[in-house]
Amino acid sequence: MTSDPVLSIRAASKTFGSRRALDAVSLDVGRGEMIALIGPSGSGKSTLLRSIDGLQTVDEGEGVITAFGGPVQAKGRVSDQVRKARIRIGFIAQQFNLVGRLTLFTNVALGSLGRIGTMRGLFGAWPAETKAATMAALHRVGVADYAAQRANTLSGGQQQRGAIARALVQKAKIILADEPVASLDPVSARKVMEILRDLNKTDGLTVVVTLHQVDYALRYCDRVVALKAGRKVYDGPTSGLGRDKLIDIYGPEFEDVFWEGAPQ
Ligand SMILES: Nc1ncnc2c1ncn2[C@@H]1O[C@H](COP(=O)(O)OP(=O)(O)OP(=O)(O)O)[C@@H](O)[C@H]1O
Ligand SMILES: [Mg+2]
Repeated sequence: MTSDPVLSIRAASKTFGSRRALDAVSLDVGRGEMIALIGPSGSGKSTLLRSIDGLQTVDEGEGVITAFGGPVQAKGRVSDQVRKARIRIGFIAQQFNLVGRLTLFTNVALGSLGRIGTMRGLFGAWPAETKAATMAALHRVGVADYAAQRANTLSGGQQQRGAIARALVQKAKIILADEPVASLDPVSARKVMEILRDLNKTDGLTVVVTLHQVDYALRYCDRVVALKAGRKVYDGPTSGLGRDKLIDIYGPEFEDVFWEGAPQ
């Protein structure tokens, strides 16, 4: 771990009925890290990511989550100062990131409003500075040609890139991306991963990305955190995630879907 954590999760548990979605998960994320969050379906990845952004609470008790040193949630309650953290966090969900009836441009420009909740931008002209930042972000992620198109007519990959552009306009310092490539073809998926990687390496953004494709985690991320049934079962360098550990995380069937060239 680096000495400068931008996210800190302490003993976060989350129970839905009788199911433990998170089981005393602790995690520090250093500034400028690129972390893959992996684990089988239902292991708690989305629950953890949503909790970090204050979109859902963890159980009352020990669980404390801070971002940039400020409170996100504690004692089962989202902090009233959560907005301070959230305006610096870009959250990219697996789908339905954009408002379908609005253009890609407007969706991305809305990032400039932070999460204040105002729809002011929809009715007036955008300031020149916002327009410039929006077009720059759209160019950066390679979808500027689609700026005028309604979001619900864009492909999944274009929408994902739009969501990343919105995070850039928002001036997010952390990107939390939940399965950003799960529904994309391999070429689009690679492009989205390369954009995230570039934002991490070139701009120093901190990225936490949940991935089902272990090979993407290995290729693009420096550190891997693995959850299994809500518990953290691996946290370390990507290079330390060998075949045995992966079988431990995903079960013996993982062997059957093991790809060529994987670490042995
Ligand atoms: N709102 C909810 N109500 C009840 N159970 C929930 C709720 N949200 C999540 N769960 C349960 O918590 C567990 C963890 O879910 P979560 O969505 O975090 O898993 P995940 O690792 O993101 O899975 P996937 O890879 O399929 O996206 C699952 O068993 C899920 O059914
Ligand atoms: Mg999920």
